[in-house]
Amino acid sequence: MRRIAPADASSILESYAADAAVTRHLTWRPHTNLDDTIEFVNAAIEEWETGPGFPLVVFARSDPGDLIGMFHPRAASSSVSYGYVLARRAWGLGCATEVMAWLVEHAFAHPRIFRAEAFCDVDNLASARVMEKVGMRQEGVMQRYCLHPNVSDVPRDCLMYARVK
Ligand SMILES: CC(C)(COP(=O)(O)OP(=O)(O)OC[C@H]1O[C@@H](n2cnc3c(N)ncnc32)[C@H](O)[C@@H]1OP(=O)(O)O)[C@@H](O)C(=O)NCCC(=O)NCCS
Repeated sequence: MRRIAPADASSILESYAADAAVTRHLTWRPHTNLDDTIEFVNAAIEEWETGPGFPLVVFARSDPGDLIGMFHPRAASSSVSYGYVLARRAWGLGCATEVMAWLVEHAFAHPRIFRAEAFCDVDNLASARVMEKVGMRQEGVMQRYCLHPNVSDVPRDCLMYARVK
């Protein structure tokens, strides 16, 4: 896992960003060409440099050149929130749980971080399970909380999870 870089755009496009099954419950539509992905990567790099977020790309342990996804911690006050996405070929292997468990421990090692949180669409059961497996507890259903444009034109209800120390 490492900080995202400009050269990652084509790998991200080929790996998962154009896959409608991957983006179904995300806030963005599948990318249709490399320009979409370059714009996305540039925004992620800028966020690392100026904003609250630390977008990370992850690679397969069996093939360190194989980009399989992205994890995106964002710090705000004493909390860190997380987004994550994996290429379909990496689903169901425990990757998201492994990386998220490490990221949450890493955040809690910081003396001023007390809360790790994430949310998902009410229908995104795989994501909800990842949050449970890293020790987050479901805090409730956030009504009309987030627009997932591949599912609906209006904001969707979401499950909020958090772990605290
Ligand atoms: C969500 C996502 C990151 C999970 O990654 P992953 O590496 O496959 O997750 P893990 O293998 O660590 O764990 C997945 C868990 O969900 C379970 N699961 C998978 N699909 C499920 C479903 N439809 N219903 C219920 N549980 C499901 C798995 O069985 C596993 O739980 P288990 O270990 O108790 O059996 C991956 O599916 C993904 O990238 N989805 C598209 C992007 C996305 O939705 N990101 C999250 C936005 S909030």
